[in-house]
Amino acid sequence: MPQRVFGERELDLVKQVLDTGMLSGLGGGQMTPRFEREFATAVGAQYGVAMNAAMSVLHSAVKVSGAGAGDEVICDPIVVFGAVATMYNNAIPVFVDVDPATHCMNPDLIEAKITERTKALIVTHLWGLPAQIDRIVEIARRHNVFVIEDCAHSLFASYKGKQTGTWGDVGSFSFQMSKQLGLGDGGMAVTNSEQVRDDLALNAGAPTFQAVAHALHWNYRMTETTAAIGVAQLERAAGYIAGLQAVAKMYNDAVAGCDWIAVPKPGPEATHTYHLWAATFRGDEKGITLGDFNDALARFECGVSVGYTGMAAYKHPLIAERLGYGKVCPLGCPLYDGANNLYPDGLCPVAEDLVPRILLAYTFGDEEAHKQSADRLHQAVQSLS
Ligand SMILES: Cc1ncc(COP(=O)(O)O)c(C=O)c1O
Repeated sequence: MPQRVFGERELDLVKQVLDTGMLSGLGGGQMTPRFEREFATAVGAQYGVAMNAAMSVLHSAVKVSGAGAGDEVICDPIVVFGAVATMYNNAIPVFVDVDPATHCMNPDLIEAKITERTKALIVTHLWGLPAQIDRIVEIARRHNVFVIEDCAHSLFASYKGKQTGTWGDVGSFSFQMSKQLGLGDGGMAVTNSEQVRDDLALNAGAPTFQAVAHALHWNYRMTETTAAIGVAQLERAAGYIAGLQAVAKMYNDAVAGCDWIAVPKPGPEATHTYHLWAATFRGDEKGITLGDFNDALARFECGVSVGYTGMAAYKHPLIAERLGYGKVCPLGCPLYDGANNLYPDGLCPVAEDLVPRILLAYTFGDEEAHKQSADRLHQAVQSLS
Protein backbone atom coordinates (compact mmCIF):
# COMPACT_ATOMS: atom_id res chain seq x y z
CA MET A 1 0.00 0.00 0.00
CA PRO A 2 -0.83 2.61 -1.18
CA GLN A 3 -1.38 0.77 -4.45
CA ARG A 4 -4.83 0.71 -6.01
CA VAL A 5 -6.45 -2.71 -6.29
CA PHE A 6 -9.10 -3.53 -8.87
CA GLY A 7 -10.07 -7.14 -8.26
CA GLU A 8 -12.83 -9.68 -7.85
CA ARG A 9 -15.05 -7.34 -5.88
CA GLU A 10 -15.06 -4.77 -8.69
CA LEU A 11 -15.68 -7.47 -11.31
CA ASP A 12 -18.53 -8.92 -9.29
CA LEU A 13 -20.30 -5.57 -8.92
CA VAL A 14 -19.77 -4.64 -12.59
CA LYS A 15 -21.17 -8.05 -13.56
CA GLN A 16 -24.22 -7.40 -11.40
CA VAL A 17 -24.82 -4.26 -13.46
CA LEU A 18 -24.28 -6.01 -16.78
CA ASP A 19 -26.63 -8.81 -15.75
CA THR A 20 -29.44 -6.31 -15.23
CA GLY A 21 -28.92 -4.92 -18.72
CA MET A 22 -29.44 -1.42 -17.30
CA LEU A 23 -26.23 0.48 -17.68
CA SER A 24 -27.77 3.76 -16.64
CA GLY A 25 -29.57 5.00 -13.57
CA LEU A 26 -32.00 6.58 -16.03
CA GLY A 27 -33.31 3.17 -17.09
CA GLY A 28 -33.86 2.22 -13.45
CA GLY A 29 -30.35 0.95 -12.63
CA GLN A 30 -29.85 0.77 -8.89
CA MET A 31 -26.05 0.86 -8.59
CA THR A 32 -25.76 4.65 -8.84
CA PRO A 33 -28.34 5.26 -6.08
CA ARG A 34 -26.54 2.63 -4.00
CA PHE A 35 -23.16 4.35 -4.51
CA GLU A 36 -24.78 7.70 -3.64
CA ARG A 37 -26.17 6.29 -0.38
CA GLU A 38 -23.00 4.46 0.61
CA PHE A 39 -20.73 7.39 -0.23
CA ALA A 40 -22.92 9.87 1.68
CA THR A 41 -22.92 7.56 4.71
CA ALA A 42 -19.15 7.12 4.53
CA VAL A 43 -18.53 10.87 4.70
CA GLY A 44 -21.32 11.56 7.19
CA ALA A 45 -23.75 13.39 4.89
CA GLN A 46 -27.43 12.74 4.29
CA TYR A 47 -27.53 12.72 0.50
CA GLY A 48 -25.18 12.01 -2.39
CA VAL A 49 -25.62 12.98 -6.04
CA ALA A 50 -23.26 11.13 -8.38
CA MET A 51 -22.00 12.87 -11.52
CA ASN A 52 -19.43 12.27 -14.25
CA ALA A 53 -16.73 14.61 -12.82
CA ALA A 54 -16.09 17.01 -9.96
CA MET A 55 -16.15 19.94 -12.39
CA SER A 56 -19.74 18.91 -13.14
CA VAL A 57 -20.52 18.97 -9.44
CA LEU A 58 -18.92 22.41 -9.01
CA HIS A 59 -20.71 23.77 -12.10
CA SER A 60 -24.04 22.48 -10.78
CA ALA A 61 -23.41 23.60 -7.20
CA VAL A 62 -22.69 27.18 -8.29
CA LYS A 63 -25.92 27.13 -10.31
CA VAL A 64 -27.87 25.82 -7.31
CA SER A 65 -26.43 28.66 -5.20
CA GLY A 66 -28.26 31.05 -7.52
CA ALA A 67 -25.07 32.70 -8.80
CA GLY A 68 -25.28 33.78 -12.42
CA ALA A 69 -24.48 36.74 -14.67
CA GLY A 70 -23.42 39.77 -12.66
CA ASP A 71 -23.02 37.85 -9.38
CA GLU A 72 -19.82 37.14 -7.46
CA VAL A 73 -18.45 33.90 -6.04
CA ILE A 74 -15.58 33.89 -3.55
CA CYS A 75 -12.81 31.44 -4.54
CA ASP A 76 -9.32 30.41 -3.47
CA PRO A 77 -6.35 31.70 -5.46
CA ILE A 78 -4.10 28.61 -5.70
CA VAL A 79 -6.14 26.09 -7.67
CA VAL A 80 -8.32 27.42 -10.49
CA PHE A 81 -11.23 24.96 -10.35
CA GLY A 82 -13.62 27.05 -8.22
CA ALA A 83 -13.05 30.09 -10.42
CA VAL A 84 -13.63 28.02 -13.57
CA ALA A 85 -16.92 26.64 -12.19
CA THR A 86 -17.92 30.21 -11.33
CA MET A 87 -17.21 31.34 -14.90
CA TYR A 88 -19.11 28.36 -16.35
CA ASN A 89 -22.11 30.03 -14.70
CA ASN A 90 -21.24 33.43 -16.13
CA ALA A 91 -20.49 34.71 -12.63
CA ILE A 92 -17.40 36.57 -11.42
CA PRO A 93 -14.70 34.91 -9.28
CA VAL A 94 -13.50 37.05 -6.37
CA PHE A 95 -10.31 35.77 -4.78
CA VAL A 96 -9.54 35.59 -1.07
CA ASP A 97 -5.91 35.01 -0.14
CA VAL A 98 -4.63 31.94 1.68
CA ASP A 99 -2.95 31.31 5.01
CA PRO A 100 0.76 30.66 4.22
CA ALA A 101 0.92 27.97 6.92
CA THR A 102 -1.93 25.83 5.51
CA HIS A 103 -2.20 26.93 1.83
CA CYS A 104 -5.99 27.12 2.45
CA MET A 105 -8.32 30.15 2.35
CA ASN A 106 -7.69 32.62 5.18
CA PRO A 107 -10.99 33.21 7.01
CA ASP A 108 -9.77 36.57 8.35
CA LEU A 109 -9.83 37.98 4.81
CA ILE A 110 -13.25 36.80 3.67
CA GLU A 111 -15.58 39.41 5.12
CA ALA A 112 -13.85 42.30 3.32
CA LYS A 113 -14.59 40.59 -0.02
CA ILE A 114 -18.32 40.03 0.55
CA THR A 115 -20.60 42.45 -1.34
CA GLU A 116 -24.31 42.58 -2.11
CA ARG A 117 -23.43 40.60 -5.27
CA THR A 118 -21.82 37.65 -3.40
CA LYS A 119 -23.91 34.52 -3.82
CA ALA A 120 -21.51 31.68 -3.02
CA LEU A 121 -18.08 30.79 -1.67
CA ILE A 122 -15.99 27.84 -2.88
CA VAL A 123 -13.30 26.70 -0.45
CA THR A 124 -10.74 24.01 -1.29
CA HIS A 125 -9.37 21.68 1.37
CA LEU A 126 -6.09 21.84 -0.46
CA TRP A 127 -3.83 18.80 -0.82
CA GLY A 128 -6.13 17.01 1.72
CA LEU A 129 -5.69 19.39 4.66
CA PRO A 130 -8.97 20.89 5.90
CA ALA A 131 -9.42 24.67 5.75
CA GLN A 132 -10.78 26.41 8.87
CA ILE A 133 -14.21 25.44 7.69
CA ASP A 134 -16.11 26.19 10.92
CA ARG A 135 -15.11 29.86 10.74
CA ILE A 136 -15.67 30.04 6.99
CA VAL A 137 -19.20 28.63 7.26
CA GLU A 138 -20.02 30.92 10.19
CA ILE A 139 -19.00 34.02 8.19
CA ALA A 140 -20.87 32.83 5.10
CA ARG A 141 -24.06 32.08 7.07
CA ARG A 142 -24.06 35.61 8.53
CA HIS A 143 -24.08 37.00 5.00
CA ASN A 144 -26.44 34.45 3.48
CA VAL A 145 -23.70 33.09 1.23
CA PHE A 146 -23.94 29.49 -0.07
CA VAL A 147 -20.87 27.40 0.83
CA ILE A 148 -19.38 24.84 -1.57
CA GLU A 149 -16.51 22.74 -0.22
CA ASP A 150 -14.12 21.47 -2.89
CA CYS A 151 -13.08 18.12 -1.42
CA ALA A 152 -11.36 16.79 -4.55
CA HIS A 153 -8.22 16.30 -2.41
CA SER A 154 -9.77 15.63 0.98
CA LEU A 155 -11.74 12.39 0.99
CA PHE A 156 -12.27 11.37 4.67
CA ALA A 157 -10.33 14.40 5.98
CA SER A 158 -12.02 15.82 9.04
CA TYR A 159 -12.10 19.00 11.08
CA LYS A 160 -13.32 19.19 14.66
CA GLY A 161 -14.89 15.76 14.36
CA LYS A 162 -16.81 16.33 11.11
CA GLN A 163 -15.65 15.32 7.65
CA THR A 164 -14.91 17.86 4.96
CA GLY A 165 -17.83 18.26 2.61
CA THR A 166 -20.43 18.15 5.38
CA TRP A 167 -19.96 21.63 6.86
CA GLY A 168 -21.27 23.81 4.05
CA ASP A 169 -24.19 23.45 1.64
CA VAL A 170 -22.50 21.14 -0.88
CA GLY A 171 -19.34 19.02 -0.69
CA SER A 172 -17.76 18.19 -4.05
CA PHE A 173 -15.61 15.07 -4.48
CA SER A 174 -13.58 13.95 -7.50
CA PHE A 175 -13.04 10.38 -8.69
CA GLN A 176 -10.58 11.39 -11.38
CA MET A 177 -7.85 8.78 -11.59
CA SER A 178 -5.24 10.58 -9.48
CA LYS A 179 -7.59 11.07 -6.52
CA GLN A 180 -7.98 8.99 -3.35
CA LEU A 181 -10.95 7.26 -5.00
CA GLY A 182 -9.97 6.86 -8.66
CA LEU A 183 -12.76 5.53 -10.87
CA GLY A 184 -11.42 6.62 -14.24
CA ASP A 185 -13.57 9.70 -13.85
CA GLY A 186 -16.53 10.74 -11.78
CA GLY A 187 -17.66 13.08 -9.05
CA MET A 188 -20.05 13.19 -6.11
CA ALA A 189 -21.94 16.01 -4.47
CA VAL A 190 -22.96 15.53 -0.86
CA THR A 191 -25.46 17.67 1.02
CA ASN A 192 -27.73 17.57 4.04
CA SER A 193 -30.53 19.47 2.27
CA GLU A 194 -33.20 17.56 0.39
CA GLN A 195 -33.93 20.63 -1.75
CA VAL A 196 -30.27 21.05 -2.71
CA ARG A 197 -30.08 17.32 -3.48
CA ASP A 198 -33.12 17.59 -5.78
CA ASP A 199 -31.78 20.69 -7.52
CA LEU A 200 -28.37 19.10 -8.07
CA ALA A 201 -29.96 15.88 -9.33
CA LEU A 202 -31.47 17.82 -12.25
CA ASN A 203 -27.93 18.16 -13.57
CA ALA A 204 -27.14 14.50 -12.89
CA GLY A 205 -29.73 13.49 -15.45
CA ALA A 206 -32.65 13.01 -13.06
CA PRO A 207 -35.65 11.69 -15.01
CA THR A 208 -37.59 14.98 -14.68
CA PHE A 209 -34.92 16.61 -16.82
CA GLN A 210 -35.65 14.14 -19.61
CA ALA A 211 -39.38 14.79 -19.78
CA VAL A 212 -40.18 18.49 -19.97
CA ALA A 213 -37.45 21.12 -19.86
CA HIS A 214 -38.26 23.79 -17.31
CA ALA A 215 -34.81 25.28 -16.97
CA LEU A 216 -31.29 25.03 -18.31
CA HIS A 217 -29.70 21.85 -16.95
CA TRP A 218 -26.81 19.66 -18.00
CA ASN A 219 -26.58 15.92 -18.32
CA TYR A 220 -23.77 14.98 -15.96
CA ARG A 221 -25.06 11.50 -15.11
CA MET A 222 -22.63 8.84 -13.81
CA THR A 223 -22.87 5.44 -15.50
CA GLU A 224 -23.86 2.32 -13.58
CA THR A 225 -20.53 0.61 -14.27
CA THR A 226 -18.60 3.52 -12.78
CA ALA A 227 -20.91 3.41 -9.76
CA ALA A 228 -20.24 -0.33 -9.38
CA ILE A 229 -16.48 0.25 -9.29
CA GLY A 230 -17.17 3.13 -6.90
CA VAL A 231 -19.01 0.90 -4.42
CA ALA A 232 -16.08 -1.52 -4.42
CA GLN A 233 -13.36 1.14 -4.23
CA LEU A 234 -15.17 2.89 -1.40
CA GLU A 235 -14.70 -0.30 0.63
CA ARG A 236 -10.96 -0.02 0.01
CA ALA A 237 -10.67 3.77 0.47
CA ALA A 238 -9.83 3.89 4.18
CA GLY A 239 -6.96 1.46 3.52
CA TYR A 240 -5.67 3.61 0.66
CA ILE A 241 -5.77 6.71 2.83
CA ALA A 242 -3.85 5.04 5.68
CA GLY A 243 -1.22 4.22 3.04
CA LEU A 244 -1.13 7.81 1.74
CA GLN A 245 -0.70 9.09 5.29
CA ALA A 246 2.18 6.68 5.86
CA VAL A 247 3.88 7.88 2.66
CA ALA A 248 3.36 11.54 3.63
CA LYS A 249 5.06 10.79 6.95
CA MET A 250 8.16 9.61 5.05
CA TYR A 251 8.37 12.98 3.27
CA ASN A 252 7.64 14.86 6.52
CA ASP A 253 10.48 12.95 8.20
CA ALA A 254 12.78 13.67 5.25
CA VAL A 255 12.53 17.44 5.86
CA ALA A 256 12.12 17.34 9.66
CA GLY A 257 14.68 19.61 11.26
CA CYS A 258 15.17 21.65 8.08
CA ASP A 259 14.31 25.25 8.97
CA TRP A 260 13.82 26.36 5.36
CA ILE A 261 11.11 23.89 4.36
CA ALA A 262 7.74 24.44 6.03
CA VAL A 263 5.22 21.64 6.02
CA PRO A 264 1.49 22.45 6.34
CA LYS A 265 0.53 20.10 9.13
CA PRO A 266 -2.87 19.46 10.69
CA GLY A 267 -3.45 20.68 14.23
CA PRO A 268 -5.12 18.35 16.74
CA GLU A 269 -8.54 19.41 15.39
CA ALA A 270 -7.89 18.10 11.87
CA THR A 271 -6.93 14.99 9.93
CA HIS A 272 -5.07 15.34 6.64
CA THR A 273 -5.66 12.65 4.00
CA TYR A 274 -2.79 13.64 1.68
CA HIS A 275 -3.98 13.50 -1.91
CA LEU A 276 -0.54 15.11 -2.21
CA TRP A 277 2.26 15.77 0.23
CA ALA A 278 2.98 19.50 0.12
CA ALA A 279 5.55 21.84 1.65
CA THR A 280 6.83 25.39 1.18
CA PHE A 281 10.39 26.33 0.18
CA ARG A 282 11.77 29.14 2.37
CA GLY A 283 15.45 28.77 1.51
CA ASP A 284 15.84 32.33 0.26
CA GLU A 285 15.48 33.50 3.85
CA LYS A 286 18.66 31.46 4.55
CA GLY A 287 20.60 32.38 1.41
CA ILE A 288 19.54 29.32 -0.62
CA THR A 289 17.92 30.17 -3.94
CA LEU A 290 15.08 28.30 -5.58
CA GLY A 291 17.51 27.60 -8.43
CA ASP A 292 19.98 25.95 -5.99
CA PHE A 293 17.17 23.87 -4.58
CA ASN A 294 15.86 22.80 -7.99
CA ASP A 295 19.40 21.80 -9.00
CA ALA A 296 19.77 19.69 -5.85
CA LEU A 297 16.39 18.01 -6.43
CA ALA A 298 17.47 17.15 -9.99
CA ARG A 299 20.92 15.95 -8.85
CA PHE A 300 19.44 13.59 -6.27
CA GLU A 301 16.61 12.58 -8.66
CA CYS A 302 13.87 13.38 -6.16
CA GLY A 303 10.29 12.67 -7.15
CA VAL A 304 9.20 16.04 -5.85
CA SER A 305 7.95 18.90 -8.03
CA VAL A 306 8.39 22.58 -7.25
CA GLY A 307 6.14 25.47 -8.22
CA TYR A 308 2.79 23.80 -8.99
CA THR A 309 1.31 25.90 -11.87
CA GLY A 310 3.78 28.74 -11.27
CA MET A 311 1.01 31.29 -10.83
CA ALA A 312 -1.94 32.34 -8.72
CA ALA A 313 -5.32 31.29 -10.17
CA TYR A 314 -6.16 34.77 -11.49
CA LYS A 315 -2.91 34.85 -13.52
CA HIS A 316 -4.11 31.97 -15.70
CA PRO A 317 -4.84 33.30 -19.21
CA LEU A 318 -8.52 32.32 -18.87
CA ILE A 319 -8.88 35.00 -16.21
CA ALA A 320 -5.97 37.38 -16.80
CA GLU A 321 -6.88 37.74 -20.50
CA ARG A 322 -10.63 37.70 -19.75
CA LEU A 323 -11.25 34.82 -22.17
CA GLY A 324 -14.34 33.05 -20.82
CA TYR A 325 -17.06 32.64 -23.42
CA GLY A 326 -15.17 34.44 -26.14
CA LYS A 327 -17.04 37.74 -26.23
CA VAL A 328 -17.37 39.79 -23.07
CA CYS A 329 -18.82 37.19 -20.72
CA PRO A 330 -18.41 36.64 -17.92
CA LEU A 331 -15.60 38.99 -16.85
CA GLY A 332 -16.82 41.92 -18.93
CA CYS A 333 -20.52 41.18 -18.46
CA PRO A 334 -22.65 44.33 -18.85
CA LEU A 335 -24.85 43.06 -15.99
CA TYR A 336 -21.87 43.28 -13.63
CA ASP A 337 -21.64 46.53 -11.70
CA GLY A 338 -18.57 45.73 -9.58
CA ALA A 339 -15.00 46.94 -10.04
CA ASN A 340 -13.49 46.79 -13.52
CA ASN A 341 -9.90 46.02 -12.52
CA LEU A 342 -10.68 42.87 -10.57
CA TYR A 343 -7.36 41.07 -10.71
CA PRO A 344 -4.42 43.48 -10.26
CA ASP A 345 -0.91 42.23 -9.48
CA GLY A 346 -0.56 41.69 -5.75
CA LEU A 347 -4.28 40.91 -5.32
CA CYS A 348 -3.44 37.88 -3.15
CA PRO A 349 0.18 38.49 -2.15
CA VAL A 350 0.49 35.32 -0.08
CA ALA A 351 -0.67 33.09 -2.94
CA GLU A 352 1.50 34.91 -5.47
CA ASP A 353 4.55 34.39 -3.27
CA LEU A 354 3.59 30.84 -2.32
CA VAL A 355 2.75 29.07 -5.59
CA PRO A 356 6.28 29.10 -7.09
CA ARG A 357 7.58 27.72 -3.75
CA ILE A 358 5.18 24.81 -3.34
CA LEU A 359 6.77 21.37 -3.18
CA LEU A 360 4.48 18.49 -4.11
CA ALA A 361 4.93 14.74 -3.99
CA TYR A 362 2.25 12.36 -5.21
CA THR A 363 1.46 9.90 -2.43
CA PHE A 364 -0.02 6.88 -4.27
CA GLY A 365 2.38 4.21 -5.53
CA ASP A 366 4.90 1.70 -4.32
CA GLU A 367 5.89 2.30 -0.70
CA GLU A 368 9.52 1.27 -1.23
CA ALA A 369 9.85 3.68 -4.16
CA HIS A 370 8.49 6.46 -1.95
CA LYS A 371 10.94 5.54 0.79
CA GLN A 372 13.81 5.94 -1.65
CA SER A 373 12.38 9.19 -2.99
CA ALA A 374 12.03 10.55 0.56
CA ASP A 375 15.63 9.49 1.33
CA ARG A 376 16.82 11.33 -1.76
CA LEU A 377 14.86 14.42 -0.72
CA HIS A 378 16.58 14.24 2.66
CA GLN A 379 19.98 14.05 0.98
CA ALA A 380 19.15 16.98 -1.33
CA VAL A 381 18.12 19.09 1.66
CA GLN A 382 21.21 18.05 3.64
CA SER A 383 23.45 18.98 0.72
CA LEU A 384 22.28 22.60 1.00
CA SER A 385 21.91 22.99 4.77
C1 LIG B 1 -9.14 20.82 -6.22
C2 LIG B 1 -9.78 20.24 -7.45
N1 LIG B 1 -11.06 20.54 -7.71
C3 LIG B 1 -11.69 20.05 -8.78
C4 LIG B 1 -11.05 19.22 -9.68
C5 LIG B 1 -11.77 18.72 -10.89
O1 LIG B 1 -11.97 17.34 -10.79
P1 LIG B 1 -12.50 16.47 -12.00
O2 LIG B 1 -11.32 16.10 -12.85
O3 LIG B 1 -13.14 15.26 -11.36
O4 LIG B 1 -13.51 17.29 -12.75
C6 LIG B 1 -9.72 18.87 -9.44
C7 LIG B 1 -8.99 17.99 -10.40
O5 LIG B 1 -7.80 17.88 -10.45
C8 LIG B 1 -9.07 19.38 -8.30
O6 LIG B 1 -7.78 19.07 -8.02
